[in-house]
Amino acid sequence: MEKKIAVILGDGIGPEVTQQSIKVLNAIAHRFGHVFHYNYGIMGADAIDKTGNPLPDETIATCLDSDAILFGAIGHPKYDNDPTAKVRPEQGLLKLRKELQLFANIRPITTYHALHHLSPLKAKQLKGIDFVIFRELTGGIYFGKKELSEDQTRASDDCVYTKPEIERVAHLAFQYAQKRKKKLTLVDKANVLETSRLWRKVIQEIAAQYADVTVDYMFVDNAAMQIILNPAQFDVVLTENMFGDIISDEASVLSGSLGLLPSASVGNKTALFEPIHGSYPQAAGKDIANPLGSILSAAMMLDHFGLANEAHAVREAVSWTLSHGFVSKDVDPINNYATTAIGDLIADHIERHRDGGRRSSNASLNQSTII
Ligand code: IPM
Ligand code: MN
Repeated sequence: MEKKIAVILGDGIGPEVTQQSIKVLNAIAHRFGHVFHYNYGIMGADAIDKTGNPLPDETIATCLDSDAILFGAIGHPKYDNDPTAKVRPEQGLLKLRKELQLFANIRPITTYHALHHLSPLKAKQLKGIDFVIFRELTGGIYFGKKELSEDQTRASDDCVYTKPEIERVAHLAFQYAQKRKKKLTLVDKANVLETSRLWRKVIQEIAAQYADVTVDYMFVDNAAMQIILNPAQFDVVLTENMFGDIISDEASVLSGSLGLLPSASVGNKTALFEPIHGSYPQAAGKDIANPLGSILSAAMMLDHFGLANEAHAVREAVSWTLSHGFVSKDVDPINNYATTAIGDLIADHIERHRDGGRRSSNASLNQSTII
């Protein structure tokens, strides 16, 4: 298979973690006989420094002309600490999500037995965790009208959702639930917010089309508690943009580190794959960041291409590093390995299993996946 992949390294640790994914993708290409072409684009603080624009038009064109986008991270402290900045790195990512209509952000929450002892939660709570957060990504308070009064003493952010915006992400989430444990939990704040009441109404309507899926409804404050108290109860969690942003960082604690979690953002155009972590500027350039969030995002990209065996080979190699203690500093502050070393180990592991592994052409079987 031949694929064009747009690569946006971004800010902070983005470049170093994404480079490990490219190593891993090259190992996959070599082992399974594929060709991946990488086309680089810039975005974020990096792009502001170079062009004054957090998302240059050329980057959008590169993304639209590719089969998938691999993205690192975005953000820089010089903007975080300057609330008056007119141009911000994050505007680049938000604009890209909107331009490509990446309305569904899929964030699987996986735990690894080898890391249980490092989790702040007791083993009892970690049993049976396997859920996926479907976060709506192009609506809500992130994209509503923003205002600051002239005297700068009053500000507002509108939270708006339309029925079609809710329906399109909800259908994907229901279909995903059908392939899993057939349970969908809508997380909202319907006791207070009008937008949440619209979400509930639309989900109740759609639920009738998915009779095999059990639906339950949970207020976001309760969900924040349940994710820690009884995370095994969840299968597919569907929620709006801002709640999804917050609860997915919270859920990452279950895996042991925010650095482990991948995501896929899908819509009608090119899909984007990125770790859920931020740019972690304190670690940038130090070769200490966790590359697994990015590498597992690359695995989701392979699934999206219909390459299930290849995606499995990446996940298997990742589990192998974790069970052998080849982990980065965020996972184990005492015994740890460099970002590049972990990337090399995973790429080597994939290559070494070259002969033992099955050569796949599952694309020709036309295996369809949502991501
Ligand atoms: C994420 C990030 C982004 C978001 C930021 C960088 C704009 O936190 O992808 O979760 O809030 O969506
Ligand atoms: Mn976030």
